[in-house]
Amino acid sequence: MAKLLYVTCNLKPVEHSCGLSIGRAFLGEYLRLNPGDELHCLDLYRDNIQRIDIDVLNGWEKMRAGAVFEFLNEDEQRKIGRIWRLADQFVEADKYLFVTPMFNLGFPAELKMYIDAICVAGKAFAHTPNGPVGLLRNQGKKCLHIHSSGGFHYGGGEDHSVPYLRSIMNFMGIEDFEALVVEGVDTIPELARQFKRLATEKALYAATRF
Ligand SMILES: Cc1cc2nc3c(=O)[nH]c(=O)nc-3n(C[C@H](O)[C@H](O)[C@H](O)COP(=O)(O)O)c2cc1C
Repeated sequence: MAKLLYVTCNLKPVEHSCGLSIGRAFLGEYLRLNPGDELHCLDLYRDNIQRIDIDVLNGWEKMRAGAVFEFLNEDEQRKIGRIWRLADQFVEADKYLFVTPMFNLGFPAELKMYIDAICVAGKAFAHTPNGPVGLLRNQGKKCLHIHSSGGFHYGGGEDHSVPYLRSIMNFMGIEDFEALVVEGVDTIPELARQFKRLATEKALYAATRF
């Protein structure tokens, strides 16, 4: 039985969102084929994603200097505790499905906040004399990124969404990364419908191999 973590970062209701509808189609097919799997959902706009702020930095600094967690002040404990829970949830999953829209050549800031929360030294990666090493490698973990954009950027140097998520997954040791990109969703409606239909078919097929 695998644990699938479904991470969405989109303000729209599912029925108005191309990316979320494709994500839902994927999930429906995946769960039909893998009814015993455990599904965990995170909505990065709804759920409390703790950003790295001055309390977090101060708490980390105190612990680096030898303080135990209980020695931190209340805000530091609460915020670092939340970050650790997010990081543990990420580490414990076997499969990851991200759904994002393109915002200004990247993805929304909430996903970066989430990445900063889960990329914890000692959990997701380790510092070694030879540089950082991903701790999630060789565990058969895999990631699918469904990404939608109004125009067309994928594969061009200006696209900082899929390539960045792929890099950070690789950094943590998750090498099996696939992207399903649906572009042109804000172009002519008939064309956009075709792009969405094609992407949904690809998602349904991807669900059979995930
Ligand atoms: C703040 C903002 C920034 C956006 N920036 C881009 C962009 O840089 N390139 C692009 O192709 N589309 C851009 N779009 C359009 C969205 O990518 C597109 O509408 C979205 O992917 C559709 O989301 P959906 O999958 O929820 O339907 C932007 C939209 C918003 C709201």
